[in-house]
Amino acid sequence: MSKSPDTPIFIPALGGAALVLGIAFAVASRDYGSDRIETLQASFDTERANATAAVARASELETSVAELTAAADARIAAAESQIAAAESQIAALRDQVAAAGSAAPAATSVASAAPAAGPFGLGRTAHDEELAAWDVDVLPDGRGLPEGSGDVWTGEEVFAEKCASCHGDFAEGRDAWPVLAGGFDTLANPDPVKTVGSYWPYLSTVWDYVHRSMPFGNAGTLTDDETYAIVAYILYSNDLVDDDFTLSNETFLDVEMYNTEGFIVDDRPEAEYAMWSGEPCMENCKPAPVEITRRSTDVGVTPADDGSMAESPMEEQLALLGGTEWGKERVAGSVFMGPGGVAQDEPPEEERVASTEPASTESGAAEPDPALVARGEAVFRKCSSCHQVGEGAQNRSGPQLNGVVGRPVGGLDGFKYSNAFKAAHDEGRVWDEESLAAFLADPRGYLSGTRMSFRGLSEPDEIAAIVAYLGTVSE
Ligand code: HEC
Ligand code: HEC
Repeated sequence: MSKSPDTPIFIPALGGAALVLGIAFAVASRDYGSDRIETLQASFDTERANATAAVARASELETSVAELTAAADARIAAAESQIAAAESQIAALRDQVAAAGSAAPAATSVASAAPAAGPFGLGRTAHDEELAAWDVDVLPDGRGLPEGSGDVWTGEEVFAEKCASCHGDFAEGRDAWPVLAGGFDTLANPDPVKTVGSYWPYLSTVWDYVHRSMPFGNAGTLTDDETYAIVAYILYSNDLVDDDFTLSNETFLDVEMYNTEGFIVDDRPEAEYAMWSGEPCMENCKPAPVEITRRSTDVGVTPADDGSMAESPMEEQLALLGGTEWGKERVAGSVFMGPGGVAQDEPPEEERVASTEPASTESGAAEPDPALVARGEAVFRKCSSCHQVGEGAQNRSGPQLNGVVGRPVGGLDGFKYSNAFKAAHDEGRVWDEESLAAFLADPRGYLSGTRMSFRGLSEPDEIAAIVAYLGTVSE
């Protein structure tokens, strides 16, 4: 805007130039002296230069006016879209009020509806756009498919660009990434190859899965047509369609998947089917009024009002279940994992060190009580998810326990022990009945930092039984 005061110069300058031109012309034609002409010529040149400068300035001004106009237009557009957004918000709030059956007349609703309506004052009505964005599922009968299409060859190109780096050029899978083609008739093998071709029963799953979640790490970037084309290519890679096939919302149901008939309802009586089929039992219900005895905040599945969570929700919850017979069993046999699947450290207790002398085989010289050993074998079921014993016992998530009584702590070469175990090993500790009993009563209390995620056995007679049993197992 700094140039605007100069604007008036422009008019007189042009006018002046014209005037001088006229004078010069008249003077020349009336045969005045040539000196005079030269003088006039000089002043004409000056005026012309002034005029040119003025014209240049005028065009500069024009540009800056255009710029200002554009900026103003943009601002107006922004304001307009803000107004539109506000209007749609107002409309949404009105809808909420209407939905909540509020008696408030629409005209006064905007302010009063701002906190969401409804009995709990939570949430708001979803916008149509949100519903449309969420409503992307596709069903086996083709419901939910968007209009669109893509052929095998387009699919090959898109697949090469976006999928082949992991799934291979021919959907054959690269490195450890999933194989998408082949594997036909391997499902009954011990090592079946489950692919879109050999295993997936519905084409809708392929379309939906690819559309929603691939390319891995870049989900949601495929257009509908790209998805049709890629799925056509995956079908072609599985020999399920010819190379001139075009997949679209219209040809979708023409495709026959190889394993459509391969899934059956497992209605064997020993399976779960019986539990969720049939009429639900609605008799013998607990008489009203129902009493609330615990809240979810107590067991750590919901934060308390101050945002804190109950510690170790699993243990809490299992302790709660311990009140029933079923729960008691669970609790006794439970495995507790800390975050990241590793048992949490507990403050080291005064170490109850295992005897560093070689285990005295004599101490168990008296024949073990067979009933106690049998009981111990039953208790061992609590350990068998992690430990094996007996002939051919292997290390699983815990080391095999053959001959563990008398074995050095952390003594198996092939097993990756925790540092706590390695340290105990380096100290030369050896398992004997006493140290095993102490360890099994409270693994983490006994050897802080152990990876054995087991709560411990609480019943002394269980401990005695399992120690007796472990004393009998050897290679
Ligand atoms: C960065 C590697 C990567 C890329 C690129 C990629 N995927 Fe995948 N894909 C995966 C992984 C990993 C899985 C397994 C995901 C899982 O099981 O949670 C997978 C699974 C799949 C499956 C299911 C396989 C099965 O049998 O369970 C299909 C189908 C699939 N991808 C298609 C595609 C398509 C089509 C593209 C290209 C648009 C693509 N993927 C791009 C890594 C990738
Ligand atoms: C969740 C799996 C798991 C369960 C259940 C489990 N353990 Fe362990 N156990 C381990 C792991 C892991 C180690 C190795 C600990 C380490 O390295 O810190 C281990 C170590 C041991 C050791 C020491 C072995 C050695 O070579 O030093 C004994 C003894 C043992 N467990 C006995 C038992 C008994 C008896 C039970 C059942 C009452 C049981 N464990 C339940 C995982 C388990």
